[in-house]
Amino acid sequence: MKRNGMRMVALTGAVALGLGLAGCSGGSEGGGGDAAAEDIQVGVAMPTETSERWIADGDAVKSQLEEAGYEVDLQFANDDIPRQQQQLDQMITNGADILIVASIDGTALATQLENAASKGIPVIAYDRLINGTEDVDFYVTFDNYTVGVQQAQSLLRGLGYLDENYEETGLDEEKIIEVFAGSPDDNNATFFYNGAMDTLKPFLDDGRLTIGSGQDDFDTVSTLRWDQATAQKRMEDLITSTYDGGSGQLDGVLSPFDGISRGIITALENAGYGSTIEEGLPVLSGQDAEIASVKMIEDGVQYATIFKDTRKLATAAVDAASAYAEGSEPEANDTESYDNGVKVVPSFLLESDIVTQAEIQPLLIDSEYWTEDEVASGVAE
Ligand code: BGC
Repeated sequence: MKRNGMRMVALTGAVALGLGLAGCSGGSEGGGGDAAAEDIQVGVAMPTETSERWIADGDAVKSQLEEAGYEVDLQFANDDIPRQQQQLDQMITNGADILIVASIDGTALATQLENAASKGIPVIAYDRLINGTEDVDFYVTFDNYTVGVQQAQSLLRGLGYLDENYEETGLDEEKIIEVFAGSPDDNNATFFYNGAMDTLKPFLDDGRLTIGSGQDDFDTVSTLRWDQATAQKRMEDLITSTYDGGSGQLDGVLSPFDGISRGIITALENAGYGSTIEEGLPVLSGQDAEIASVKMIEDGVQYATIFKDTRKLATAAVDAASAYAEGSEPEANDTESYDNGVKVVPSFLLESDIVTQAEIQPLLIDSEYWTEDEVASGVAE
């Protein structure tokens, strides 16, 4: 994977920057005046290294910030909330001028962010919104509702109801599905779920689709911490309760994340549904274009994923950080969608793409996100 270099930020160490922190909600004495890029410290807090996407995000943000001349403190928190809180405290104590934060629990960082605001440190929420606080200044993310729509569209395409242009094919066979959602403490999970369920609704309403277990409310189908083993266990329980231990008909599963999809696939394979879609594995969606799952798509095991180019998200975060470093406001393209319970956070939203077997080459390999060898081996180099 080429993780950096989408775009060089036009700043060098020699450029004098006014870290005026104009956009900062805290807006106190901290940080003002001119500083050279290398004197600006950016703290980058990422949730976990257990999922490849966050490693790629961390690498891309770090390298792009460094190219722009900033000093970077990148930390991963192992999906442990107190650890992330501690890392943020430490970054602030160490003199961070700007924070970029991908939270684990979107409501657990209020104390840290209040402290940041009191020191005039702008906070950029990265990919996941930080909720219940005034002290978040900007949000860079993908259009999360649309990601959910795309997950459902990919499932509907795999089931034959939509064609490759996502137009209805006219198929009116009745099929059985199950639904999984992401972590209830991650604001994105509800957006994905809502986008997906709104898209599936007409098919559920007219009976072309049925959720075999009847389980469709968010709390029941959510997966704490997006955990693969938790998803595998829920699928195993469903196979026992609803699918006669593996002989019952199950055509598709809505899955919100590649790690969750891999857990579900393991459960299905163990229950005898086969090892490929051709052999009888239900059609599965995903998210993040993780390399292990891209290989599974290539091999006809998983049907689709959603590609969110982490390099572009990193560039958006670095642009926002640079704006604050220059004493100006980052440019938002959405000032309505992301209400964190206290305020609507100005956001910059990026677009995502559906990847089935047919899109691996044009979207993932041609853009140098993954190489052909990586796709063949399923391992990032
Ligand atoms: C991200 C997804 C990711 C999930 C699990 C979400 O907040 O937006 O891209 O699949 O977390 O890591």
